[in-house]
Amino acid sequence: MSEVIWGLGTSHVPSIGAAMDRGVTDEPVWAPLFDGYGPAREWLAKNTPDVAILVYNDHANGVDLDIVPTFAIGTAEKFSVADEGFGRRPVPDVQGDPDFAFHILNNLMDDGFDMTVFQELDVDHGFTVPLSVWTPEPGDAWPCPVIPLMVNVIRYPQPTAARCYALGKALGKAIESYTEAQTVGILGTGGMSHQLAGARAGFINPEFDKMFLEAIENDPEKLAALSREDYIRLAGSEGIELIMWLVMRGAMNAEVRTVHSAYHVPASNTAAGLALLDNRTDV
Ligand code: DHB
Ligand code: FE
Repeated sequence: MSEVIWGLGTSHVPSIGAAMDRGVTDEPVWAPLFDGYGPAREWLAKNTPDVAILVYNDHANGVDLDIVPTFAIGTAEKFSVADEGFGRRPVPDVQGDPDFAFHILNNLMDDGFDMTVFQELDVDHGFTVPLSVWTPEPGDAWPCPVIPLMVNVIRYPQPTAARCYALGKALGKAIESYTEAQTVGILGTGGMSHQLAGARAGFINPEFDKMFLEAIENDPEKLAALSREDYIRLAGSEGIELIMWLVMRGAMNAEVRTVHSAYHVPASNTAAGLALLDNRTDV
């Protein structure tokens, strides 16, 4: 039996990764954001899981915009870091866990989630920036193997928040029934409120984001009940990335404990939020 030990919700804004790669995180414009990450990073460094599952979206770097799967899983041994047009980030490639990924795939299929399978996949900022938020200095390798779980948030219609939450519940069951890995961390990524183009470009909604950061611990059903139109209206056309945090939350226990949360506006055009949830409230 495997156990989810933590869930981490975090934004994936590319400039957060670029600030780390360029070594400017101490500069006044960036320091408040990275100071906010400190306590989560310290806790995570002491709680490295055997395997992580990273729920994310690609931004037309790993998959073509014409063929975007609603839900997909990566079953490869290794995932390369994508070149998004300005050279690949100087961070390690990602080691996968094919056996665990196939176990999850089979269980999700049996539970009615018809997953697309990636046997080859380059991962973009949606994946590498959350890894850097977790582990700022990975050296030659990330702290553990990481399985990509991809969600379509960029092509209409996106899956509903309720469906993402249900996927998380099925994921939690699949993890529990796996006998090989012992401890698992889950990252739910993207958000918080932002809109990168169109009439509302630059739109940010701190009230909604703060409500979301609280409810992700205490009332995820409320977040799962919001429609995709609610997310776009309240969090912006790219703020709908937040539905991916619900996959993470669905895989956790009903009761979790927030270890640390942080919120900073603006990082680029996006409200950057973080929520670190401990799944073991009895220890
Ligand atoms: C930004 C945010 C995103 O979520 C993204 O995928 C790309 C850019 C931004 O705020 O710059
Ligand atoms: Fe994004």
